[in-house]
Amino acid sequence: MSLLDIRNLSIYGRNDTDEAPLVDRISLTLADGEILALVGESGSGKSLVAQAVLGMLSDEWVMNAERISFDNIDLLHIDHDSHRSLLGEDMAMIFQDPAACLDPMMRVSEQLLESMPKTTPWWQLGRRKQLQSLISMLHQVGVRDHERLLTAYPHEISAGLAQKVMIAMAIARRPRLLIADEPTIGMEPSTQGQLLRLLSKLNQLHKMSILLLSHDINMAARFADRLAVIYCGQVVEAGPADAIINQPMHPYTEALLASTAAGLCRQPPKTPLPELRGGMPRRDHLPIGCRLGPRCGYARKACVTMPELTRSKVRDYRCHYPLNQRIDVDEEDA
Ligand SMILES: Nc1ncnc2c1ncn2[C@@H]1O[C@H](COP(=O)(O)OP(=O)(O)OP(=O)(O)O)[C@@H](O)[C@H]1O
Ligand code: SF4
Ligand SMILES: [Mg+2]
Repeated sequence: MSLLDIRNLSIYGRNDTDEAPLVDRISLTLADGEILALVGESGSGKSLVAQAVLGMLSDEWVMNAERISFDNIDLLHIDHDSHRSLLGEDMAMIFQDPAACLDPMMRVSEQLLESMPKTTPWWQLGRRKQLQSLISMLHQVGVRDHERLLTAYPHEISAGLAQKVMIAMAIARRPRLLIADEPTIGMEPSTQGQLLRLLSKLNQLHKMSILLLSHDINMAARFADRLAVIYCGQVVEAGPADAIINQPMHPYTEALLASTAAGLCRQPPKTPLPELRGGMPRRDHLPIGCRLGPRCGYARKACVTMPELTRSKVRDYRCHYPLNQRIDVDEEDA
């Protein structure tokens, strides 16, 4: 049984009744102890999927889904308070905009202490030992000058430090599921490596499952067991990370990989992909048929019909003319 099971999730703008959904029938599963990365360009719908799982979609969105469950708990019909308490204990989120998620009126130290586990041993530690434990956690996420940080208010710290504080708060209680939305964006490569090693360790030692959201397919493939590539709100390819990175079946995955090779993963997320013509279409101007059609160098006549997701044991792809198709057959036979 999957720890997280999302089936046919669609998300629409509340007032966009005539437009295509921003997230279109997405299905994802995450096993206990697994790392899955949802990868795609800016605006592809990654954060909306996370918000739907966490019950945090704002009123401007409407969603429908066949199923969203966590540890077999039906999140589609759970009451608000129970959803919130799951989020505090078993699920945690590293938000894409950490500074906006910190309370501007509270010192960073108070917010960190609040996020620490509420178990008996923790409260028995006493204030001094609690602080020591907190400081050790801050060092693990790459904070060097903890003294200045602990006395500061959120507006007095940099965006990078706020990101590290948010990461420390998210992993403090060792959640069973961590959703990490661009957790390393803007970090120096050495800090990025340190953080990914820490998350891998938590995954291996404590079986913490991770749903990583990222525009950097190369980083995601090094870290995750499986990848799901998303374009314009649709999953276009999914499968084992190694297989996808070595033999992509979808032209969009190929373009993402090529831009990584060109070093673009180190560019800000809204940088257009040079391997594809133009940019991602607006949802009120989606092409007929395959959503990648106007940008795809492999497009042919059949592409005016929307390709459905073809599912196999190990790889899923949404393309009439998949690349490396033979590989799919070989992998299934293996
Ligand atoms: N508050 C909002 N109001 C209007 N449109 C929005 C809002 N938030 C997101 N969108 C739109 O929804 C779509 C999906 O957005 P989402 O934030 O999920 O993308 P993303 O893949 O997380 O992108 P990024 O990598 O930039 O974070 C985009 O087209 C975006 O413009
Ligand atoms: S279906 Fe056609 S346009 Fe779409 S990705 Fe495949 S080849 Fe390109
Ligand atoms: Mg996002």
